[in-house]
Amino acid sequence: MSEPRRPQRGSDPRTDASSGPKGRSAPGVAARQLAVDALVRIDAEGAYANLILPTLLSRSSLDQRDRAFVTELVYGTTRMCRSCDWLVDRFLPDPERIDVTARAWLRIGAFQLAFLATPAHAAVGATVEAAPRRLSGLCNAVLRKVATSLPVTWPSDAVRLSQPDWIIERLSEDLGSETALAALEAMNAAATSSVREDGYVQDLGSQWIVEAVGVDIGDLILDMCAAPGGKATALAAAGARVVASDVRAGRVGLVVENARRLQLSADSFMVLVADGTSLPIRPGIFDKVLLDAPCSGLGALRRRPDARWRITPGDIDALGALQRRLIESAITMLRPGGELIFSVCTLSRAESLDIDMWIGEQFPEIEALPAPGGVWTPLGRGALLLPQSADTDGMYILRLRVPGPSDAPNSLS
Ligand SMILES: C[S@@+](CC[C@H](N)C(=O)[O-])C[C@H]1O[C@@H](n2cnc3c(N)ncnc32)[C@H](O)[C@@H]1O
Repeated sequence: MSEPRRPQRGSDPRTDASSGPKGRSAPGVAARQLAVDALVRIDAEGAYANLILPTLLSRSSLDQRDRAFVTELVYGTTRMCRSCDWLVDRFLPDPERIDVTARAWLRIGAFQLAFLATPAHAAVGATVEAAPRRLSGLCNAVLRKVATSLPVTWPSDAVRLSQPDWIIERLSEDLGSETALAALEAMNAAATSSVREDGYVQDLGSQWIVEAVGVDIGDLILDMCAAPGGKATALAAAGARVVASDVRAGRVGLVVENARRLQLSADSFMVLVADGTSLPIRPGIFDKVLLDAPCSGLGALRRRPDARWRITPGDIDALGALQRRLIESAITMLRPGGELIFSVCTLSRAESLDIDMWIGEQFPEIEALPAPGGVWTPLGRGALLLPQSADTDGMYILRLRVPGPSDAPNSLS
């Protein structure tokens, strides 16, 4: 396991004397225009930030530094857009009448001023210069006022942390206000990533889930929700025979690609497209099942800048119900004495403690195994990894064992 590394930080070429070829006109203009293009598509067309940005970047001729700057502007502004809107709306006579393009320019200007530590003259000047002529007066007037108003007293934690009210309320209820606000604050930073020994880039928290599965050489392990294959490939690399299954065929393609890139042998790594709730596999044969379940992703908000604006409270209920059906199915796949590892990258009680309590009621014969310690916080019979504890995504894990001898051989041994 290696040290986490921050993604390359994009510096604003406008404020960096060393940037770009000499004589290049208006540095940072093309980068800002591309960032606004992406933001308009996200806002007006519902495009996903992590899909539209690579598409637009692939068509551009920007250099590496500009690309990193665009990425920082688009992801950061998407994440912090509620805060940015509040900053600018104070100086607009009628905020409702601002069109999507004007809104995007004002947002990236406010984001640079409040969250990127770009010097005010550069943030305002470069944004005004890059904006379409029809918007330069508006951007100039409003962004100058924003600049002189900083630092501000935010009207609420939801505006300060740029979150929908319901996420603040829900996580405060589930975790306590102090812990929830610290978690949400930590998830407003850009994600760090770690590189495994085999070169796969994976969050450290996800690597710790794999450690908690605890592979014995030759273990037959089913990864029921495997795509894109981060954990499944790590389990195979640790010496397990893995069946990596996922319901989405397109995403299973990513598992195949990753397994090929990591040169995993077809004898020990099998891939399957299947709904985990009705698997076309003989039950009762697996030493371990990893159920890295579909979840609301409220622990991985730093990785998905627009997720907070998409997810709804109803989604959490629906996902909790799906997780229960997947757990019922996972249990049938285990051999006597086999282990189920349930994990999610979220912090909601409905997808963690409530699941633990439901399992306790429905399957009293199933025992819980020790949860990981250290930076993990005990929660019920499982444990929570808070994003502020170790600069990772937020996760929950619960390890269980069905009755039977712990070392019973699986029927494929
Ligand atoms: C958290 S992701 C898994 C990440 C993966 N374990 C990794 O480490 O790379 C959850 C996955 O569950 C899959 N999924 C959703 N519903 C499913 C179902 N009913 N059966 C199987 N997989 C499902 C999604 O397609 C998604 O790939």
